[in-house]
Amino acid sequence: MDPHSEAVSKVTVPLILDRKLRGEKITCLTAYDYPTARLVDEAGIDMILVGDSLAQVVLGYDSTIPVTLEEMLHHLRAVRRATRRALLIVDLPYGTYHVGEEETLRASIRCLKEGGAEAVTIEGGKKRAALIRRLVEAEIPVMGHIGLTPQSVHSFGGYRVQGRTLESALELLADAQAVEDAGAFALVLEGIPRELAALITGRLRIPTVGIGAGPDCDGQVLVVHDLLGLSFSPRAKFVRSYADLAAVLRDAFARFRDDVLAGRYPADAESYHWSASLREQFEKEVATRSLEDEFEG
Ligand code: KIV
Repeated sequence: MDPHSEAVSKVTVPLILDRKLRGEKITCLTAYDYPTARLVDEAGIDMILVGDSLAQVVLGYDSTIPVTLEEMLHHLRAVRRATRRALLIVDLPYGTYHVGEEETLRASIRCLKEGGAEAVTIEGGKKRAALIRRLVEAEIPVMGHIGLTPQSVHSFGGYRVQGRTLESALELLADAQAVEDAGAFALVLEGIPRELAALITGRLRIPTVGIGAGPDCDGQVLVVHDLLGLSFSPRAKFVRSYADLAAVLRDAFARFRDDVLAGRYPADAESYHWSASLREQFEKEVATRSLEDEFEG
């Protein structure tokens, strides 16, 4: 099936909820630009997340904290132009939902109206329940995100697997329930033990989408640059590389450099040409002009 042909069966929020009832797995990848989103969409991935991981994997920041709403919107719009079938979700970046409900609503509405998102993601459990409810009341579908939430890197003291003590596991279970009760349609579980993810998945009616949370979640999400082997940070335990694009790109760039330096690129076949008749006309014209110059001189 080519989702860019006319007959695309659009993935919607109700369809994602239905997947859980049917026991069918859900696939999700991040994308931040037109070509990647187009290929992800054409591959039949169910959900595309314009994640705030944009900050690190594309913009070169050292955490997700600095990325702005404007930067997210810029990339979201490119992904929107490429996405026909997948459900398009955007992470609300740090700072857009921490100041007040009005500001969160305004940022989310911009994501839908200006960026073409169909849902937003916010990090946090119980403490975000009122906010999630408010967004849902404003017809904005929300995907929750708990566990190793990268925007909390400073409070966690680093990127550490969460839910490894009884107390923190119980907290996360309560967080998951609060997100569901507030009306979220799905929940990302990031960086938690498999056992806890399985327990949460079993208890919730909404689907869980795991990243570093084991195979028992209802779906899986990966950062597309990790999956492609195009990341400069050490590979996390849960990441499976399906390609080594960094090696492919390094090789291509080095061959281009060598070909140009050696005069092998471009070849004659890679050049534009005159027609034989134009060449003849041009040569005659030049010859006539130089004869005239000689006589005039
Ligand atoms: O920002 C991101 O890419 C994410 C996921 C991978 C869940 O939040």
